[in-house]
Amino acid sequence: MKKTATKTETVDKKIKAIVDKYKGDKTALIAVLQDIQDACRYLPKDALTYVAEKLAVPVSRIYEVATFYNAFSLKPQGKHLIEVCAGTACHVKGGFNLLEKLERELDIACGDTTKDELFTLEQVRCLGCCSLAPVVRIGGNIHAFLTQDEIPKVLKTYKEM
Ligand code: FES
Repeated sequence: MKKTATKTETVDKKIKAIVDKYKGDKTALIAVLQDIQDACRYLPKDALTYVAEKLAVPVSRIYEVATFYNAFSLKPQGKHLIEVCAGTACHVKGGFNLLEKLERELDIACGDTTKDELFTLEQVRCLGCCSLAPVVRIGGNIHAFLTQDEIPKVLKTYKEM
């Protein structure tokens, strides 16, 4: 009789390598998820099932952790994460207009990823540099005093990276 692959047998090799590295240590759950997030830019469902099996942790617990931390995403993420600050200082100085411009330029809504998987657009609370408002962080880089007119040029720079 032909053997059917189980879900965990079809998990990507890179996921297996990450999980194996921690040798079943359930206290390393966050580190495992972080490594998977870094490797895949999100936490694939089959990867979480595999982690649950190998670390002997309930899947429900893994989803609790994965949804608690902002660093984790259950949806595929773009190569460049764009975070538009929605804190008070940025809002007062036009942060919402920047979000609208980015949505138009990228043809996506906040929270989505472009079809080419280059950009994910998100809104976040204060980025901690209010004196530079309005601020947008792209791939970890702060763009201070950003204006709507500068956005196409900024996006072009990241498209060429
Ligand atoms: S409100 Fe935007 S950086 Fe603080």
